[in-house]
Amino acid sequence: MSHDEFPTDEPAVVTCGLPYANGDLHIGHLRGYIGADAFNRALETLGQQSIYVCGSDMHGTPVAVNAEQQGVDPEDFALEWHRQYEETFPQFNVDFDNYGHTHDETNTELTQEIVRTLDDEGYIYEKEIQVAYDPEADQYLPDRYVEGTCPYCGAKARGDECDEGCQRHLEPGEVEDPTSTITGNPAEYRERSHKFFEVSEFTDFLTEFLDGLEGTSNARNQPRQWIEDGLQDWCITRDMDWGIEYPNGETDDSGDDLVLYVWVDAPIEYISSTKQYAERVGADEYDWERVWKGDGEIMHVIGRDIIQHHSIFWPAMLEGAGYNKPRGIAATGFITINGKGLSTSRNRAIWAKEYLEEGFHPDLLRYYLTTTGGLQQDVDFSWDAFQETVNGELVGTVGNFWYRSLLFAYRNYEGTPDADVSEEVRERIEGAIGDVRESVNDYSMRGVGQAATQLAQFGNEYIQRNEPWKLTDEDSEARSASEEPSGDEPRGPERAAQVIRDCVQLAKAVVVLLEPITPDKSQDLWAQIGEDGDVADAHLEDALEAPPRSFDEPGELFEKIEDDRVAELTEKLEERVDAAADDDETEADAAESESDDTPGDESDSMTDTGDLEALADERIGFDDFQELDIRVGRIETAEGIEGADDLARLEVDIGFESRQIVAGIKQLHDLEELPGTKCVLLANMEKAELFGVESNGMILAAGEEADLLTTHGDAAVGEKIK
Ligand code: MF3
Ligand code: ZN
Repeated sequence: MSHDEFPTDEPAVVTCGLPYANGDLHIGHLRGYIGADAFNRALETLGQQSIYVCGSDMHGTPVAVNAEQQGVDPEDFALEWHRQYEETFPQFNVDFDNYGHTHDETNTELTQEIVRTLDDEGYIYEKEIQVAYDPEADQYLPDRYVEGTCPYCGAKARGDECDEGCQRHLEPGEVEDPTSTITGNPAEYRERSHKFFEVSEFTDFLTEFLDGLEGTSNARNQPRQWIEDGLQDWCITRDMDWGIEYPNGETDDSGDDLVLYVWVDAPIEYISSTKQYAERVGADEYDWERVWKGDGEIMHVIGRDIIQHHSIFWPAMLEGAGYNKPRGIAATGFITINGKGLSTSRNRAIWAKEYLEEGFHPDLLRYYLTTTGGLQQDVDFSWDAFQETVNGELVGTVGNFWYRSLLFAYRNYEGTPDADVSEEVRERIEGAIGDVRESVNDYSMRGVGQAATQLAQFGNEYIQRNEPWKLTDEDSEARSASEEPSGDEPRGPERAAQVIRDCVQLAKAVVVLLEPITPDKSQDLWAQIGEDGDVADAHLEDALEAPPRSFDEPGELFEKIEDDRVAELTEKLEERVDAAADDDETEADAAESESDDTPGDESDSMTDTGDLEALADERIGFDDFQELDIRVGRIETAEGIEGADDLARLEVDIGFESRQIVAGIKQLHDLEELPGTKCVLLANMEKAELFGVESNGMILAAGEEADLLTTHGDAAVGEKIK
């Protein structure tokens, strides 16, 4: 890896976290795969040699548990999903250069080879540990076969991860009050011997690695905290049959083959998939060893629930086995549907198949997901917001500009008029190219989308301001001469040709800049302006190359989504979420609805409370409270906002990222003293703009003096308040 700006001379690989081959793909998956696909395409437009690889994650309890529920063999089960994924991704223009799976020969061999190396290097040892066991099922309970309480944060947790709480990876034996997910019985802990990878040996290496790591800040900050708390060694074998066998025919205590933990072989598929690609195209075209054993550029896009695996375990494995390390890790934010957490069990999701069956073009979703979330931000999906983006930006701004300028050019010049691009427009395009380059280097696909859309917006204003339709007719020369008596600017038809020439160039530039996000639509327009070949092969500089002289009548590329269509889609979604809830009335839901009816709230009769604000009459359910994402933060910087008497601009570390927050505390606190202070904030507060400064969250404070809330103990930054 280098740390030169993209494009570098080294070959690059972009990966996205492997999907478990265990169920239908939905919008939560798509935002990652689309984001990474767009990132890879954008790197290519910069002139970076780059490929995009991935594969299905076939092993582990997420697959085994689901296969078992359906009574099928895990291999058949996983292969069937793998085949479906292979079909589905291209339908969203997610264009993997190689898509393998973790159970194939390449990955099996490479995994065993890497583990063997780690073993030979002395990084692996054996240890007796307590493993959960279900006496009734007569089975050990690795990972998702067991549930309990997280020992770190107290949240309900799976055997291998605190998925609803602090997001930590949990080691076997760590989860408290374990119950078996097979029988629902309390599990016993029994002693077993397992293999451990000495992650703790890599503490110094990892500290340095994180300092140089690019991508999103959460992929560095959370792991730093874990390192500070002390790294534990990592159990890399499991008591189960489904998986890749530990090398050299090692067996477990019962004489069965030892199986590697899924998180060992899964990331190795990143390498295997690259290798398969290179074997297909030949080392002259793409040298996988230069990437993974030399200085190639490795970029991982992942969900933020698997940061620990990618920022700690994975680089330690790579280092221990003598491989190259990732240059960047982008950990995407959460996705919500209508403001509520995506939940497949509650059917609160937009399914990949469903989206396509509704007849929407994949590029619309690509644009929505990339420009609202990119590789970093949380995304909320609602059909309303989707409609607003499509109608406003794609139809209203981009499509409108493309269509009106090309139609005008076609009608009056049968193509690109014979004139030079003006200085103003050339500079504007160069500016947009610069913005794209910078955004890609910042891993901001949102920035790429914005640069392209703003260029189209500029185009619309440019055409409006110059009114070429007033300049093309016979009398326009005289008219424009009288309107613009001074200056040497060309007038009339000559001026019109110049303006339209600019517009065609702008249209072409938008096409090139937007290609990573809307590849099909860009290709259509590329062809409409008479360009040959693939817009995907174009580089940013091509945005400044003259378009072909003649082209045919253009067609409209985007269609408005009507209100009644949105109403219908929203209703459909609500209905199926309700239906799933009816099917699955949990005890908690029942208890909650009972307490909703609590009679006799007499709070307003209690008057003897001095100046205190009256208590709220209305009770809220736990679900409503759950919607408030309240977090522990640490104030990093605090400064007054010029021109605002009360407002201060704070930078607050919330574990995943750093937030800019505007708070009305300028007069009430000594701002210089605030950095380092722990605070409590509402992280999913709507964004607002105050005195031109964006506020992304709300700091909680008590009373008129804005006494800042903090925590009593040593809760980590990013921890959720509940
Ligand atoms: N299948 C895992 C998940 O969905 C991700 C595996 S990513 C890899 O959480 F790094 F292991 F490949
Ligand atoms: Zn936890």
